[in-house]
Amino acid sequence: MSSTETDSTAAGAHSDGAEASGLLEAMLAELRELGALRSAPVEAAFRAVPRYRFAPGAPLEEVYAAREAVVTKRDAHGVAVSSVSAPEVQAFMLEQAVIEPGMRVLEIGSGGFNAALIAELVGPSGQVTTVDIDRDVTSRAAELLGATGYAQVEVACADASESLPGDGDWDRVIVTVGAWDLPPVWTDRLAPGGRLVVPLRMRGITRSLALELVGAHLEAVSSEVCGFVQLQGVLGHEERLFLLRGKDLGLRFDDANAPADMRPLDGAIAAQRQVVWTGVTTAAGESFASLEWYLAAVLPHFCLLAAAPGAAAEAGLAGEGERQFRPAHVDGDAFAYLLARKCEDGRFEFGAAAYGGTADQAATRMADQIRAWDDLRPDREIPAVSIWPRETEELPAGFVVDKRHRRIVLSWTERT
Ligand SMILES: C[S@@+](CC[C@H](N)C(=O)[O-])C[C@H]1O[C@@H](n2cnc3c(N)ncnc32)[C@H](O)[C@@H]1O
Repeated sequence: MSSTETDSTAAGAHSDGAEASGLLEAMLAELRELGALRSAPVEAAFRAVPRYRFAPGAPLEEVYAAREAVVTKRDAHGVAVSSVSAPEVQAFMLEQAVIEPGMRVLEIGSGGFNAALIAELVGPSGQVTTVDIDRDVTSRAAELLGATGYAQVEVACADASESLPGDGDWDRVIVTVGAWDLPPVWTDRLAPGGRLVVPLRMRGITRSLALELVGAHLEAVSSEVCGFVQLQGVLGHEERLFLLRGKDLGLRFDDANAPADMRPLDGAIAAQRQVVWTGVTTAAGESFASLEWYLAAVLPHFCLLAAAPGAAAEAGLAGEGERQFRPAHVDGDAFAYLLARKCEDGRFEFGAAAYGGTADQAATRMADQIRAWDDLRPDREIPAVSIWPRETEELPAGFVVDKRHRRIVLSWTERT
């Protein structure tokens, strides 16, 4: 679909489904309110491409839910391996990418819909290629793109962590699958002034980063909180899970930072819980993404307390409406995790709860770091992120997370 056609079809793209059209308007309003949708070109793209045609058979309410992905494939264990991503995530990643007419854009991970949005953004003079490791996914995407008027989008099947399709450089590489590391090929083929947008996992915390090359390293120009299905293929990376109780409650380590011996934690949650409150508060609804990231960087054995729905409440670790993952760490013979309680003024106070032989120490250490984070800046800004080739020895000051191909440095500015 060309951009001139867009004008005439903007209202009509969703006319096959009058219901879809109403749901689209509500979804766009929510995306604007969430701050995910910020520019006219991205909004025009969402109006032009009929999302429901890329999720045939799915209920329209699900297709147009701003924060829901439509899962299109699961593995033998029921884990989602492919989806049409949530509109919120698609919108903020496209905003992060700042795509202009005429650009060459590569999307890694193909659902069809997002590639069609990119085709709208680059217009007839641009070029879009989408690559996926799974032939079922590429066949589906090619068919849906053809049927909706986006046959110009090239669809390729490959493990994109080994090689990228086509020749020449890409102005934008947009990775739509969760990556633990950045393979060299994602930056080798980036055009001068190009931008890589990628959901990168550091110690279990995923952030969509917009990265630009500065000499041999990358610097993040923006960051958004997100979750994604995991990258498969040669750079696939398994997390390590230590079960605390049955199969529904455990500690999840993502990098090589798990204590060598986890046996001291056996039976820990049967012990008395120790809680330390910090006096650090946050407004209801305010993001504490920066705090999660900070704890991940500074606590040597940072992990996530992972609970199946209902499991944490049942074990007495959290109240109803608990989150599925909480920042946690192991310290000596204990683990501690982040807690919040409602104050009289409606704000929430952070605390740390711990179980095990050294519970006091584990809770106190986490509470101290929550206070240290609070002291850093009044606006608790996200850190500066720079990513360096693995062989780099001299790094800027900050917390370092080492990967196979890269070294990630997170630096928070001290309050002046
Ligand atoms: C969330 S889906 C992509 C969503 C899509 N961009 C959309 O329109 O919303 C992630 C995809 O990444 C693919 N994938 C996983 N590992 C990959 C790899 N190493 N190379 C290429 N694709 C990969 C999966 O097969 C899956 O289809």
